[in-house]
Amino acid sequence: MLRLENLRCEYMRNPINIDVEKPRFSWILISDQRDQFQRAYRIIVSSSYEKALNWIGDIWDSGKVLSGENINVEYGGKELESFTRYYWRVKCWTDNEEAESDIAFFETAALEEEDWKAKWITKKEFISFISNENPASGQDKCKQYYAAYFRKEFEITKNVKRARAYICGLGIYELRINGRKVGDNVLDPGQTDYSKIALYSTYDITDYLNEKNAIGVIVGNGRHIESYGYGKPRLIAQFLIEYEDGTREFLVTDENWRVSHGPLMENGIYYGERYDARLEMPGWDEYGFDDSSWEEVEATNRPKLKSQMMPPIKITETLKPKKMWSPKPGVYVFDFGQNFTGWVRLKVRGPRGTEIKIRYAELVDNDGTLNTSTLRSAESTDVYILKGAGEEIYEPRFTYHGFRYVEITGYPGVPTLESVEGRFVHTAVEKIGDFVCSNDLVNQIHKNIIWGQLSNLMSIPTDCPQRDERMGWLGDAQLTAEEAILNFDMAAFYTKYLMDIRLSQREDGSIPDVVPPYWKLYPADPAWGTAYITIAWYMYLYYNDKRVLEEHYDSMKKYVEFLKDNSDNYIIRNLGKYGDWCPPGSIHPKGTPLELTSTFYFYHDALLLSKIAKVLNKKIDVEKYKRLSENIKNAFNGEFLKFEKGKHIYSGCGCNKKSTNQTLCVLPIYSNIVPEEYKLEVFKSLEELVEVRSDGHLDTGIIGTRYLLEVLSDNGRFDLAYKIVTQETYPGWGYMIKEGATTLWERWEKLCNGGMNSHNHIMFGSIDAWFYKYVAGIRILEPGWKKFQVKPPINADLQFASARLIAIQGEIFVSWERLNGKFRMVVSIPANTQALVYVPLMSKKEVFESGRKVFPSENEGKICGISFVEMKDKFIVLKIGSGWYNFESF
Ligand code: BGC
Repeated sequence: MLRLENLRCEYMRNPINIDVEKPRFSWILISDQRDQFQRAYRIIVSSSYEKALNWIGDIWDSGKVLSGENINVEYGGKELESFTRYYWRVKCWTDNEEAESDIAFFETAALEEEDWKAKWITKKEFISFISNENPASGQDKCKQYYAAYFRKEFEITKNVKRARAYICGLGIYELRINGRKVGDNVLDPGQTDYSKIALYSTYDITDYLNEKNAIGVIVGNGRHIESYGYGKPRLIAQFLIEYEDGTREFLVTDENWRVSHGPLMENGIYYGERYDARLEMPGWDEYGFDDSSWEEVEATNRPKLKSQMMPPIKITETLKPKKMWSPKPGVYVFDFGQNFTGWVRLKVRGPRGTEIKIRYAELVDNDGTLNTSTLRSAESTDVYILKGAGEEIYEPRFTYHGFRYVEITGYPGVPTLESVEGRFVHTAVEKIGDFVCSNDLVNQIHKNIIWGQLSNLMSIPTDCPQRDERMGWLGDAQLTAEEAILNFDMAAFYTKYLMDIRLSQREDGSIPDVVPPYWKLYPADPAWGTAYITIAWYMYLYYNDKRVLEEHYDSMKKYVEFLKDNSDNYIIRNLGKYGDWCPPGSIHPKGTPLELTSTFYFYHDALLLSKIAKVLNKKIDVEKYKRLSENIKNAFNGEFLKFEKGKHIYSGCGCNKKSTNQTLCVLPIYSNIVPEEYKLEVFKSLEELVEVRSDGHLDTGIIGTRYLLEVLSDNGRFDLAYKIVTQETYPGWGYMIKEGATTLWERWEKLCNGGMNSHNHIMFGSIDAWFYKYVAGIRILEPGWKKFQVKPPINADLQFASARLIAIQGEIFVSWERLNGKFRMVVSIPANTQALVYVPLMSKKEVFESGRKVFPSENEGKICGISFVEMKDKFIVLKIGSGWYNFESF
């Protein structure tokens, strides 16, 4: 039977926040028959549920379209109206089945700028404070403001059918109605360059309303601070109330709102917050509160608004501390046993006015006290002052911390393990990947990466969550994007982030190292700037998202032209700043010239741009950028390929006589820059560097590391890649784990001077993609998973591996095991896709599927869904269609 499921509009299920003119629809097919392909679809969009039920597409009826497309099919009906709910469904045909989906809906938010009737409002006078917020180079202090509390009452006289809030408070806000927090977003809205765009969220507030209502909004600093070029906290909100009689009304922020300071005073991303519960104003967010002492608000200017069409930041898990100790009288340290991002929720009873301080850290010293060296100037301290009213519960709202340990001082009496809970906070992307194998060390590395990756999704991909940075460093983002995509549904997240990158682009085509450009680091090191084209390409490859390519094409092209304008005969000499960052023993590259990493990415980007031009059918550009990439390749080899001591190697450019290293070998092989005739020689050097000179360890920074394992595996040395990965001695991931790491470190070293030593950096997490692609063996071959490869490793000291991916086309599952000379592999392929499966041949050279012989070929063509492709190396290669397969090889 065929079923249609997982209906999504712009990557969301039943969204209420659509603000694109032509939303796109996706669905998946599920069938219990093998080898199923969609042959046709029909989508309807209706103005009511009843119409959709009866297949009346009064807004759009695509008609029966002969097409296999089921991902990101663009809306093609009447012009959509703002603030309106639409119902949609789809019908699909395969060769022998057909199915109708359930009814889904989407709602538009404000499609036009004019739909915003509300005004931005702020407080006339703020109390300010000075903090260490590492604002920008040259400034070491920054001015921020106490939180502002806004309120407004209103009454409703008719029956409400549905109500929505559209709201943005800069930098961070919390919306409350009738005494309750609305929804479970925290640290909203997503970070952007507020001079260009601010994101509003949409909430369903139907169930929050009474006859008499009060809205309360608290707004704090977040990143909307003057040191980054912005200003004081501000708010805009528009509340739509639709009545059962069909009429609607908008309540908007305007000069009639009231504002005050309150118990939440100092608040800052790095700073922490100070909350004096004695200053609470009971009932401030409820109807009937006396706000006569509050001030009138002031209208202020508006950044452009856009709907936040990505998963919000949420508290996704609550952790109990594992241990508590007291290193000094009155000082209590809690260990959560896991490095993560968020804050603690404190439970306390005590006298009014008692001041409790919560400090956060990743490390403790030998004497059991906190070691905050990895935070650098971030104060990361929350202060709570008791009101003295029985049990009090406090958790911060306008800051976050990266930590494993917390220290509490000022606690009345002795706290217990029940006094604090850890709140894990990050962009709530859906987990779509699972990986496990027979090596526990590998599993632990994978686990560390999951914690580290989530800790670094804070509406932007950050470098780290603890110290005075937490910025959207593009290098870190690009290196880990594929890993993130294999573990989480990143489509909406990266769609928004690519917008951030585009908005950061300057007239000359340059983009900065950090996006949003809170620090104005222009122009980016090309190894960082490549994030723009690399991530856009992944959006196409993994999510079949052509719109992203279209929308960004001109800007991406401008970026490549910028690189070209800044090259010297196709070599980029002056843009590199970090290069192969953080190799063992250093933060700066060792022996890998900046010119080489910069030019490698110039080549990489030019070539990708040519491929993108091809997807978009821009014929002239396909050739133009192909030619550009050829020129770069030739220049690269002219500059860096040397003949030394009888062999061809890549080495530094004249200025750097040190001969080759692992990264220098890896990059030209990975990108096929190395001329075919020298490839083996260069690969041999790599093998020798790893095996002989480094005793099976890596010697790479973040760039080389990203490609090292793939290059070794693709050239027949999976075993060597595996050896590097499972080393427990320095340097390597296993060493980190042995030293107690629960996330990945910034450096291969545990501790170094100078604070560049975060214990929760994600950049070396690129290895996780290798787990899925080379250990489990699942690799995408065609955009949107239309076709992929399943190829388990053969020369591996591994008994089993398995991975499950909820890809955009549905669930892919691979599980293989090797036992007593026999190889077994279960594979599940989603409908509407195909896979090339490599089954290793064992001693008898016999392969079965669900008990039937597929090789030698006595059943060739007779087993549904399977066709023989070729014998290759030690594999038999089969093409299979959708369904479950159970292979055995003897
Ligand atoms: C960040 C990195 C970043 C780098 C630039 C560091 O301070 O934490 O992860 O990519 O600077 O080299």
